[in-house]
Amino acid sequence: MVRRVKVCVIGAGRAGEVHALNLVKRITIAELVAIVDTDLALAKQLSEKVGGVNCYRTLSEALKNKEIEAVFITTPTFTHSQLTIEAAEAGVHVFCEKPMALSLEEADKMISVAKKNNVKLQIGFMRRFDPEIRKVKSLIVDGVIGRPVLVKSLTRGPGLPPRWALDPKTGIGMIAEVSSHDFDSVRWLMGSEPKTVYSEADALINPDFKKEYETYHDVYVSIIRFENNGIGVVDGGCPVGYGYDARLEILGTEGLIIVGDVKGGSLMLCKSDKKAVTETFPSWRNRFSEGYIGEAESFLRAIIEDKNPEVTGEDGRKALEIVLAALESMRTNRPVTLPLR
Ligand SMILES: NC(=O)c1ccc[n+]([C@@H]2O[C@H](COP(=O)([O-])OP(=O)(O)OC[C@H]3O[C@@H](n4cnc5c(N)ncnc54)[C@H](O)[C@@H]3O)[C@@H](O)[C@H]2O)c1
Repeated sequence: MVRRVKVCVIGAGRAGEVHALNLVKRITIAELVAIVDTDLALAKQLSEKVGGVNCYRTLSEALKNKEIEAVFITTPTFTHSQLTIEAAEAGVHVFCEKPMALSLEEADKMISVAKKNNVKLQIGFMRRFDPEIRKVKSLIVDGVIGRPVLVKSLTRGPGLPPRWALDPKTGIGMIAEVSSHDFDSVRWLMGSEPKTVYSEADALINPDFKKEYETYHDVYVSIIRFENNGIGVVDGGCPVGYGYDARLEILGTEGLIIVGDVKGGSLMLCKSDKKAVTETFPSWRNRFSEGYIGEAESFLRAIIEDKNPEVTGEDGRKALEIVLAALESMRTNRPVTLPLR
């Protein structure tokens, strides 16, 4: 019989819905048994979409249900640390969405509590499970393009992240929300640790937002220098309206790999007026649909087979450290040296 891990999703918002639907409809080694949201009505709405599971307002209430073996934390970033610690201390494995936390202190605590309680901790970098990006990694590891010397990654989103992510009281801004993935990808594909980060950023699309949130930025570029001397470039911009756009380019000493496309498929309509029309990806949900399934399956397999998750708390911490360095560089207009103190 297939071993199915009993899972609770915490947070019935955008990311929670993606994970809950995958866990129920696409993943055979999971059994979704509970949904938690401080807004119980949202938990119940999502529960209806997945065929009905127990709903709770808090993780503490849910954890009274002793059958829960793992949680998927899909709540705003400022709650990740506290929820991870609570779950880990109850002996429950944790999949936590990116960005891992708001500070390195929080990330360190999450890692140490998970270790102490012998539970798995995986961070939601689903791009590592995207079939094309996975292939890129194996091409690099096999030496097909020689040594990677320049890794570029960009993300542009059609709309704005939720307000809690933009408000400096509850989030660390657009670059953390949108580009944590890019920082993780660049580090992973470069296969080296970052040593300096320099960033330029501004509110060029919605300058008025700066009146509300002093740290608001919506267009940015970061240049990362790695210990192997390779260079990473991450850029982002939101909202761009035209679609969800995630692309990567890896220059090696013996070749180039380009992955991702603005086009959401190969269909293109060409009419006699000589204009071509094509679709873009409407959302991250579509662009990385396989990645979300792959990361959840990988996490559950790590639990079933008692092995280390493919994306660890340390990976989440590293991406967070680059984000924090990028933010410091934006503030100071200078390159920032890692590790951060
Ligand atoms: N990997 C990805 O591509 C991806 C995509 C979107 C969001 N995310 C991440 O997922 C997380 C959630 O983002 P979102 O856009 O889904 O947010 P959201 O605002 O749409 O949903 C968050 C939900 O969490 C609930 N909530 C808040 N505090 C809670 C608590 N303490 N306990 C239980 N429920 C609580 C809220 O009521 C809300 O329903 C963020 O870390 C975000 O960065 C990742």
